[in-house]
Order: sequence, then structure tokens, then C-alpha cells
Amino acid sequence: MNNQEELIRREILGIKEYIPGKPIEETQRELGLTDVIKLASNENPLGPAKEVLAAIQETAPAVYLYPDSNRYHLKQALAEHLKLDPAWIFPGNGSDEVIKLFAEAYFCPGDEVIVAKPTFSVYEYAARLMGAEVVTVPAADGYRHDLEGMAAAVTARTKAVFICNPNNPTGTIISRQQLRDFFDRLPQRVLLVIDEAYSDYVDDEADYGRGRELLESGRVLILRTFSKIYGMAGLRVGYGIAHPALLQWLERVKEPFSINIIAQRAAIAALQAKEHVALSRRLNAEGKKQLYRGLTELGLTYLPTQANFILFQVPVESKLVYDGMLRRGVILRMADSFGLPRHLRVTVGTPEQNTRFLQALKEVLASSGS
Ligand SMILES: Cc1ncc(COP(=O)(O)O)c(C=O)c1O
Repeated sequence: MNNQEELIRREILGIKEYIPGKPIEETQRELGLTDVIKLASNENPLGPAKEVLAAIQETAPAVYLYPDSNRYHLKQALAEHLKLDPAWIFPGNGSDEVIKLFAEAYFCPGDEVIVAKPTFSVYEYAARLMGAEVVTVPAADGYRHDLEGMAAAVTARTKAVFICNPNNPTGTIISRQQLRDFFDRLPQRVLLVIDEAYSDYVDDEADYGRGRELLESGRVLILRTFSKIYGMAGLRVGYGIAHPALLQWLERVKEPFSINIIAQRAAIAALQAKEHVALSRRLNAEGKKQLYRGLTELGLTYLPTQANFILFQVPVESKLVYDGMLRRGVILRMADSFGLPRHLRVTVGTPEQNTRFLQALKEVLASSGS
């Protein structure tokens, strides 16, 4: 057997495998359970719209054809939805792919990439993959992006900064003024990625800074996804919004057929299903209130959220709670990988799922003696 560590690119050695939310089937298999709910990956508990299901069925006979490499119709539909020119839109195989392509196009060994902590881990992964150095700026209050600290971390080697707004796993947002001030402090040569995967859930609209206002600069890439409010995580469609001068390089490095034919058509249908989006938003707003009440009754502290998940603190190691919940058929997300060993993240579910989560949590906390 070769010594693999000698063969592999040095950069790969620093990459940790992504830890996804535990799948339902795996949990059923391992624990012999039948009734399992997953509140671990911020998926839409309503699933996709009926229009999406119809588009999937209608497209099924066409799967012998390659998908449209240019994603023409999807770009057109998104352009109409966003009131933008299609040249400003880059659909990808999940926003994860857009992040990776951005890194492939722009990051080199020697570059520095600034990320917050805690935040979504794929930014760091993509930077490391390309051999860029990751500069992590811890949240000043433990949760919120320390924009002051992130601006101060910029050096002559900084290539890009990632901002997650609302942030995963905290659900906190950056205001319009904060975003503008931060952007104004960045040198002209630094790129800014603003991940708006959860923007559709924001209810504090007045205090929310959208990246859109900064697009004209040509240095900003906004990320959005069909995995969350559109309920299509399993189909893998996301998109970037940026100046065509930036997106042309992503088009150049992308694989020819990264979004499959069903996913492209389903995403177009999802944009038409405005009722479903409105319903999902309402369900989330109600669910947030239900979970806030329930967590408060259990004596737990949580972060008020602008997304479809809630980060909460437990009085014991989070693994104990996680395992106890799993045995009761409720999959959560531990926040230890985000550097928060006493926090867990729960996705806002249906009223029934939220009730079940709260009941199971009550039992687990009681049995852990807290
Ligand atoms: C902040 C954030 N960005 C991007 C993604 C990835 O989305 P996609 O499914 O489009 O790859 C996620 C998924 O959890 C996320 O939380």
C-alpha cells in the first residue's frame, strides 16, 4: 500500500469531512425506530410545492437527454423573479457548488479568506481546498459576526470575505447600515460573498441588509438556494447573483452538466408556487413562537432567529441531549462543530413536530438530571 499522505495534495490534509444532519433512514436502521423526524438540516417541513412535484413527473421521461448546460430557462425564470438581467445569475448544483466554483476560480495558495465563527463550514472547506489560508474571526458576543474584527483582519493578502446573513447556526442578521459600513471599509480588490440561503425567512425586514444594493460594485457574490424555503434540498439547486464580469469565470470552471434536467425544471416551477412560499413562511413564524415558548418553559436560553432554525443552550454536554433525542426519534444538530459544545440547533417543524421535539426534550433533560 502506498503512503497516501505522501501522494495527496498538502492542502487536502487540513480539510475535515463535512458532518451532515443524520439521515432519517440511517437513524431508523441503527436504532430500530420507525417514526423518526429530522429537525437537523433546516429543510422545509412542508416539502416541495405541488407545482414542483408535477414538474418532476412531467420531466421524468426526458431524463435520457443531457440537461441544458447553459441553464437558459432557469436563468430566465430567476431573472424575472429577481427583476435582474439573466447574465447576473449563476444557477448551480446547490449553493454549495457555487461556493466551490467561486473558490476554484479565485482562490490561490497564499490568499487569505476571512470567515466568521460560528458560521456555515463550506466556506472554509472551499478555501482550504484551493490552498488559501482561512482567517477565522470569532464572534465578539459568541454568536454574531464581529464585522469590526473581520474588517480589521483584512491584509494585503486578503482575497475574499464570507458573510452569512442570516447566519447559520445562530439565525442572527446583519443590518443594512452594518453591511454598507463593512463593505465601505473593504479595499477595492477584496471580494465579498454574502450567503442569503435563509433570506426568505427574515421577518425583521426593516433591519435586514440585503447584498443586492452592493452588486453594482462587481465585487459581491450573493448566494441563494432552493433547498430551504422551496423545500428542494434533495434536488440540489442554488444560485449566485453577481456582476457578469465575476460570473463569467464561474461559467468557465463549472462542469458542463452540473444541474440535472429534473432539478432545473423543478426550480422553475418552484418560482411560480408563491402560495407555497407564503405558507412556508407563515408556518415558520408560528413555529418559532411555539418553540420560543416551549424552550422558555423548559428554562433554556435560545437565540431569537431570523431563519428556520433555533440555536439553544443546554445545561449538559450537547451530545447527551443529542443522543437522548435520537433515541426518541428526533434528529437534531449538535453545534460542537461550530465551536459551541453546549448548544444544539433545531429546525422549525410543523406544529406536531415542534410539540414532539419539546416533549422529547423535556424527557431527555429530566433524565439527564438537569
Ligand atoms: C448558510 C448556508 N448556505 C448554503 C447552504 C447550502 O445550500 P445548498 O443546499 O443550496 O447547497 C446551507 C445549507 O445548509 C446553508 O446553511
